[in-house]
Amino acid sequence: MPTPPGVLIDRVSHEDIPEICALYRRVWEAVRAEVPPEFLKGAVPGALEFTSRMEGVTYFVARDGKRLLGAVGCAFSAGNCRLVDLAVDADVRRKGVGTALVLTAVDWARRNQAKEVWIDALARFQGAHALFRHAGFQEAGLLHRHYWNEDVKFFEKPL
Ligand SMILES: CC(C)(COP(=O)(O)OP(=O)(O)OC[C@H]1O[C@@H](n2cnc3c(N)ncnc32)[C@H](O)[C@@H]1OP(=O)(O)O)[C@@H](O)C(=O)NCCC(=O)NCCS
Repeated sequence: MPTPPGVLIDRVSHEDIPEICALYRRVWEAVRAEVPPEFLKGAVPGALEFTSRMEGVTYFVARDGKRLLGAVGCAFSAGNCRLVDLAVDADVRRKGVGTALVLTAVDWARRNQAKEVWIDALARFQGAHALFRHAGFQEAGLLHRHYWNEDVKFFEKPL
């Protein structure tokens, strides 16, 4: 699954912070009516909050030369790598950007000796689940009313 033509995936830099925060705002404000308000708070960090997240999480961004199209983070813990804050701008979805980000993150996890990569998503985010399966993840379980009264699905990919 090659990266889509014209798209570059790279480590996030401090100069990207305003753009990445704007991306998360666009992506999650669009579903404001469908998700708990607490979810939105976590999903749309301000610049200061994102800067402090960058201390513990390695972020990758997708760009097309003009703008930032998507992002994902890798958080390492106890020998595994959790993917966090995955988002792709609505107007460039279904072109392989999400897959390219996830596979870059998986490669990073492998190169950093993680034994497994995992990701969770609200059970209602079925498009995201389809992407995880497409990228080779298997469904690992479901926790009921796990985040703000919402069911959450877990996916894993042993390395
Ligand atoms: C989920 C998300 C990251 C997918 O990004 P994307 O760039 O569109 O994903 P891709 O183009 O790489 O999709 C690859 C495959 O995954 C599956 N897929 C992705 N989105 C899908 C959707 N909405 N419905 C059904 N299948 C989907 C398809 O099999 C797709 O291949 P195809 O387009 O050839 O059919 C994007 O829709 C998004 O940002 N959504 C809102 C935020 C979100 O849900 N983040 C994840 C929370 S954990």
